[in-house]
Amino acid sequence: TSLVSYKKSKVSSSLIPLPGIKSKTSNSSSPEWTFNRTLTNLIRKNILRFLDAERDISILKSTFKPGDVIHYIFDRQSTTNISDNLYHLLPTASPMKNRHYKQCAIVGNSGILLNSSCGREIDSHDFVIRCNLAPVEEYAADVGLRTSLVTMNPSVVQRAFQDLNSEEWVQRFVRRLQSLSGSVLWIPAFMAKGGEERVEWAIRLILLHTVNVRTAFPSLRLLHAVRGYWLTNHVQIKRPTTGLLMYTMATRFCDEIHLYGFWPFAHDPDGKPVKYHYYDTLTYHYTSSASPHTMPLEFRTLSALHRRGALRLHTGPCK
Ligand code: CTP
Repeated sequence: TSLVSYKKSKVSSSLIPLPGIKSKTSNSSSPEWTFNRTLTNLIRKNILRFLDAERDISILKSTFKPGDVIHYIFDRQSTTNISDNLYHLLPTASPMKNRHYKQCAIVGNSGILLNSSCGREIDSHDFVIRCNLAPVEEYAADVGLRTSLVTMNPSVVQRAFQDLNSEEWVQRFVRRLQSLSGSVLWIPAFMAKGGEERVEWAIRLILLHTVNVRTAFPSLRLLHAVRGYWLTNHVQIKRPTTGLLMYTMATRFCDEIHLYGFWPFAHDPDGKPVKYHYYDTLTYHYTSSASPHTMPLEFRTLSALHRRGALRLHTGPCK
């Protein structure tokens, strides 16, 4: 279905009435939340008009061969190749084929998770999605330990593992990968240029140490499809964040979706400072026009869906 014909459909314009919504962030964890199955099914159906996460979660071996040229999604003039190693790690079938879960947790990386005691609750979900190889062990009480799927932007190798510039960092990285045994490792390798080497290093280490992860490389159409869905619903996002990508895809294979660690604000509802990430000292200008993301807008959108029972946004401490 084209964007234009979708725009014309009645369902789409009434799906998420966003303009003018105020985010009632302080009571997002209020106990009176009830799951809205009808709306959830409708959202899944509408998203399916743009993308099918079962298919778009990864390109497959059958559609590529080593040496194939790929244009980066955000840098169309630049290209990369499907290396022999990358080809080796392409799945033969979708890692999410025929998967369906009752309750999924998507864990964002905001410092709002610190002192939340949400670890046990997060781990109790049937499927746990995490972002950008965020550390868990040292923060288990607040963020949990289980990981069913974790994303890894190529920049993570640089940001969190010092570009593997010493044997010690290589070992740390390998240990982190080995701790993911059995989970899906989702690597957006073809989004933006500049990460080619880092992706290749990661892949080589996975092969060298026979790390037991199921690698997935998002389809070339995913980003635009996700953006298209939200634009059609009047959410003017520049470039969807990993968190929003995960929510949009998770609607395909999860009923109840619970979000933790989504808080793109420098202060909590009581005015106390909140770290951008729960695990490092990175700072972020949430409203900077130079940022590729529009996180506060994404958050307001997710808050609106929370209020309507389509997802549950947990922003306070867990019981
Ligand atoms: N997030 C959030 N509030 C924060 C930090 C993160 O809501 N203070 C959410 C965002 O949806 C983000 C996700 O958690 O995509 C994972 O966080 P992170 O790894 O920091 O993502 P980024 O690298 O900042 O952004 P990207 O989406 O480009 O990966």
